[in-house]
Amino acid sequence: MCGIFAYLNYLTPKSRQEVLDLLVTGLKRLEYRGYDSTGVAIDSPDNENIVMVKRTGKVKVLEEAIQEHFSGGEYSKPVLTHVGIAHTRWATHGVPCERNSHPHRSDDGNGFVVVHNGIITNYNDVKTFLAKRGYEFESDTDTEVFAKLVHHLWKTHPTYSFRELVEQAILQVEGAFAIAVKSKYFPGECVASRRSSPLLVGIKTKTRLATDHIPILYGKDEKKLSPDQDIRPHGQSRELPVLPRSESTSEFMPLEEKEVEYFFASDASAVIEHTNRVIYLEDDDVAAVRDGTLSIHRLKKSLDDPHAREITTLKMEIQQIMKGNYDYFMQKEIFEQPDSVVNTMRGRVRFDGNAIVLGGIKDYIPEIKRCRRLMLIGCGTSYHSAVATRQLLEELTELPVMVELASDFLDRNTPIFRDDVCFFISQSGETADTLMALRYCKQRGALIVGITNTVGSSICRESHCGVHINAGPEIGVASTKAYTSQFISLVMFALVMSEDRLSLQQRRLEILQALSNLADQIRAVLQLDSKVQELAKDLYQHKSLLIMGRGYNFATCLEGALKVKELTYMHSEGIMAGELKHGPLALVDDSMPVLMIVLRDPVYVKCMNALQQVTSRKGCPIIICEEGDEETKAFSSRHLEIPRTVDCLQGILTVIPMQLLSYHIAVLRGCDVDCPRNLAKSVTVE
Ligand code: M6R
Repeated sequence: MCGIFAYLNYLTPKSRQEVLDLLVTGLKRLEYRGYDSTGVAIDSPDNENIVMVKRTGKVKVLEEAIQEHFSGGEYSKPVLTHVGIAHTRWATHGVPCERNSHPHRSDDGNGFVVVHNGIITNYNDVKTFLAKRGYEFESDTDTEVFAKLVHHLWKTHPTYSFRELVEQAILQVEGAFAIAVKSKYFPGECVASRRSSPLLVGIKTKTRLATDHIPILYGKDEKKLSPDQDIRPHGQSRELPVLPRSESTSEFMPLEEKEVEYFFASDASAVIEHTNRVIYLEDDDVAAVRDGTLSIHRLKKSLDDPHAREITTLKMEIQQIMKGNYDYFMQKEIFEQPDSVVNTMRGRVRFDGNAIVLGGIKDYIPEIKRCRRLMLIGCGTSYHSAVATRQLLEELTELPVMVELASDFLDRNTPIFRDDVCFFISQSGETADTLMALRYCKQRGALIVGITNTVGSSICRESHCGVHINAGPEIGVASTKAYTSQFISLVMFALVMSEDRLSLQQRRLEILQALSNLADQIRAVLQLDSKVQELAKDLYQHKSLLIMGRGYNFATCLEGALKVKELTYMHSEGIMAGELKHGPLALVDDSMPVLMIVLRDPVYVKCMNALQQVTSRKGCPIIICEEGDEETKAFSSRHLEIPRTVDCLQGILTVIPMQLLSYHIAVLRGCDVDCPRNLAKSVTVE
């Protein structure tokens, strides 16, 4: 979804051109999140104004426009202190166009400019309120009201600091957001905040910081506006009430550095090339930089608030977010899987002692063993990892296991009990539906286990315990290595749960043995790449692809079909082979492309039955089968042979050809592999 990147240099000379380069590079790192337009705002050369450039389309288009407008002359002179803000927009309110692109401004004079992620749900009320005070709106967005609201507050409360103005505005808006604000009236200052949308601050100093904690400051008066005072009552015409101006009180001193650079970003991939020292902001934190000093304020005080926000050291390396020799991030991430699955198991699985320790949940295992049922909740690919491992979890935990799509789970107001254990599976850790389902279950007293790839994400922070899947940054919008690592994390959990079950030891050993061979087997499957590319050439001009399987491989059918849809815009459907006769068989004829997964496992005979049903309707399926399985291969001239592994891990090996196939079809169809149309990496709105 939208991406925010803002940069502030204090006593570190940088020309405006350099600042613009930094902003554009920051936006490029956020491209993977999905977007349809872009924009930046910097100070004009005379420092009297703010200039903005916005473009529909890719960051590249913005970059060209910047080169055209801002090269040489005044733009190449260094300035000691400067603030620039930038944004990639994923349209929610209003079509993608320059007028709707961010930054949005408060007035013709660009007094305040704002970049925003998320949705301000009461923007219509705020708009009516401001319109009655003479504000004219130039976009269809919810964001514009925020810029104008800050401006209105500035006019009516001239003594307020920049941070206080933004705080007061935040108190009036509802919904989910991350924002960064810049003002020509407060040069060298930047204010940023978040509520249910991620935002972090990167800090770069020449010398190591004197502290690893930034104290949290509170205003003297934390009184909330009462509902009859604030904007919400549908835009009635009256003055906007504002809390009394307050000096912050704290026994701590905020972070004060002489020469410093700050980066505000939606995620760590945009700052890692500048600094690995970051603070993840929490909901209702307001981060303000003034005179080079960063301070963090809370809008509301709650009893369990810590006194300070910790500066975290990112473990990520810059190479991890670069494409290297690959053409696309997705391709790189598919080929990283021999390593990413090992990283998921690293330090957790001891193959010599057949032991597994999941440090993030080990203290909760006794409680989990006593639970009523396990609920696995996620969206898209993350949901499929739950489908893929459900059978093994049922077998090894001997507990009822429910798998749920987060959106549907919420729609149903699903009953949740205190003795439920709810797993929230999410690569980004920020998916709005999954996060809301988490909060729903937490309110009802269930134990919350997060399975995420993004350290510091909302799901991580709001879970009681969890497992980081450690797949490394996943940039391509299509999830690949996160899926296989989520899969393995859940398999490891099943193994932990069955550690003391004598009757299950043989099964556990078999799975552990298979896990130890997995990386090599994935390498072997990746060798099929050119063969898969040839198959893609047969398929890419078709309109549809049916993917059939059952048992442990049904999840691969769902996941394969999702990959084909999102990357190639072709229709594709994952079909439970047992359901063929109940409808889907009607689709099969000699022209319908079909792919079938038929492996030597307990459902082999049933899969062969389905295969025969397809071939007797003149279907000519591509078959994924086990190496050397001549009997199965005989049913079709087109097959992909994968190494034999234990039944419950087959899904990891069978999904890789599906990832490769969708990738190659997308390339052949000329689709944007890393940023498919209409999709975002991190879906932070419902
Ligand atoms: O970040 P999450 O794992 O919570 O994201 C959930 C889905 O949006 C995501 O898996 C989506 O389905 C993928 N883009 C599919 O490749």
